[in-house]
Amino acid sequence: MRIIHFTACLIFSASVSFASEIDVDAIENPVTVDSASITKGAKLYQKHCVVCHGEKMDGNGPSAESFEVAPWGFIDGELKEISDGYLFQQIKNGGPWFEMPPFVLALKDEQIWNLVNYLKSLGK
Ligand code: HEC
Repeated sequence: MRIIHFTACLIFSASVSFASEIDVDAIENPVTVDSASITKGAKLYQKHCVVCHGEKMDGNGPSAESFEVAPWGFIDGELKEISDGYLFQQIKNGGPWFEMPPFVLALKDEQIWNLVNYLKSLGK
């Protein structure tokens, strides 16, 4: 248990300092939005995100009810005003309420950008 707690603290402090030191909206998306990137993002979504964010991308996956702050839905224009850099940063370091897990160890940056491209392509 102690190790798990220690790791959680590390992730906690890493994401806090990351968020406060750089302007996430200014992070540029290096991956071109094309069908190849969107297809890769869709596959990654099915593998890593569906359990919480849902098959229908409505934030209502099988485990959605176990969270205090509900997982985001991605289909009702929620992402219209949200920058690519912000999304990238949230997926990489975890959500602000610490219920959305960080994917920094599970996914490469390029895979996270593919996810961003996929999510932003929805509801357009
Ligand atoms: C274990 C459940 C879980 C998984 C798996 C998960 N999420 Fe989340 N996600 C959440 C919850 C709960 C929230 C809302 C609370 C928060 O932001 O911490 C959230 C919030 C978000 C947000 C919004 C963050 C914000 O600013 O509030 C984005 C973007 C997101 N998730 C993307 C993803 C993507 C992409 C994946 C797959 C790589 C993923 N999530 C996998 C549970 C999950």
